[in-house]
Amino acid sequence: MDETERQYYFIDAVREQVHALEQSLGRPLTYHVTTFGCQMNARDSEKLAGILEQAGYLPSETEDADFVLFNTCTVRENANQRMYGRLGAVHSRKKKHPQMLVAVCGCMMQEPDEVETIRKKYRFVDIVFGTHNIYRLAELLYKRLCTGEMVVDVWEDTDRIVEDLPNARKYSFKSGVNIMFGCNNFCSYCIVPYVRGRERSRDPKDILREIERLSQDGVREIMLLGQNVNSYGKTLKEPMTFAGLLREIEAIDNISRIRFMTSHPKDLSEELIEVMRDSKKICRHLHLPLQSGSSRILKEMNRRYTKEGYLALAERIKKEIPDISLTTDIIVGYPGETEEDFQETLDVVRRVRYDSAFTFLYSRRSGTPAARMKDQVPEEVAHERFDRLLKEVQDISKEVCARFEGQTMDVLVEEVNPQNPDLVSGKLSNNLTVHFPGDASLIGRILPVYLKECHGFYYIGELQ
Ligand code: SAH
Ligand code: SF4
Ligand code: F3S
Repeated sequence: MDETERQYYFIDAVREQVHALEQSLGRPLTYHVTTFGCQMNARDSEKLAGILEQAGYLPSETEDADFVLFNTCTVRENANQRMYGRLGAVHSRKKKHPQMLVAVCGCMMQEPDEVETIRKKYRFVDIVFGTHNIYRLAELLYKRLCTGEMVVDVWEDTDRIVEDLPNARKYSFKSGVNIMFGCNNFCSYCIVPYVRGRERSRDPKDILREIERLSQDGVREIMLLGQNVNSYGKTLKEPMTFAGLLREIEAIDNISRIRFMTSHPKDLSEELIEVMRDSKKICRHLHLPLQSGSSRILKEMNRRYTKEGYLALAERIKKEIPDISLTTDIIVGYPGETEEDFQETLDVVRRVRYDSAFTFLYSRRSGTPAARMKDQVPEEVAHERFDRLLKEVQDISKEVCARFEGQTMDVLVEEVNPQNPDLVSGKLSNNLTVHFPGDASLIGRILPVYLKECHGFYYIGELQ
């Protein structure tokens, strides 16, 4: 029996128990998954939700549910406080409803100290697992139901990729698709390689099959996910480039938009730029994390590119794909960062002119090499730089985002505007948001919209 079949066996076994419980309670059982962190975690949560739905649980909007699962992130040092706060709230509910089950998984659970904390101080937690074995949720849940004891199953690493398990998509018309797992880059400040394990790529056949199925199921836009998509395929038996994979995905009918993240500048190939330029489906958006504009700091960060190399790459991309939107991630206050280093970062921001940038205060993440460095930047200095950077980023972004005013562009409608029910909201190919008059019947459709006026980071438009 292969692993997928094994897991379906456990899903069925859990379903029987869920049914029995429903009979005795006289109502259906519900679940809620709370997700912290990045797109990778969001996609994992869809897979976890898929398993729970197949096992008979119904989705609940809130953490007031029979099965509550926290999918954690640990990229910043203080992330755990928030999570433990939420766990505390769930504990009071569990005291009133003893049949309730609570599980914690994800990146934070890959850290032995955190698992210890749960074992000692959060005894009411029923199941703990990590990032490498999410496909086992039904098996772990079954074990918990049979033994009545806390089940802890965390693996250090794995080379296994289990295909074809259920998943419950948040949106009917768009979906993330993992193309690779883990990371081998070990940027000096980053915990991800330690909690997500070594880089491994999915077989292109499995990826294409998944996307074909999604397209038959009504998905128009896919987001290919990996910590460094530009190194896709290097670990496969028959190596393949990321650009090569994109060419094959382009050929799938009914998929209209292809996005991907994240691109590490050191591995971005000329071939990728050409494939993007010639593609009708790859979105006009590239997220290209800079982290710092100082070549000295970049070296310390182990990023393996220089300021000049990054600028040349950004130039090259803009020349080949003039309507592209570039976005980025920047860290302020890395150990040893001087005012001159920071000025280099501002310089890159002014030259590249990003559509938007995620700016982060450096977080001293224990377990990473940078956390052990002596020269930590004082908090006030880092904050002050952060504020200056944010202002620069926002001023530029306002100008750059407005450059399409007066044009008509395709919008994929995602939702009814949560603030104003007379408007719907969607995304341009370049990932900018557009709000325009419309109703729920437009959700999931790609429509031409006149971009009437830009309000900083979004457009108000009119359906054409
Ligand atoms: N693989 C992606 C990033 C994943 S983490 C890449 O290389 O681009 C997302 C972002 O979190 C990073 O780009 C970085 O800017 C930020 N980040 C990671 N560790 C951090 C830390 N210790 N302090 C502050 N920001 C951090
Ligand atoms: Fe972290 Fe660097 Fe890997 Fe991105 S590439 S996940 S920043 S180690
Ligand atoms: Fe966080 Fe894990 Fe993503 S640490 S940023 S959820 S890979």
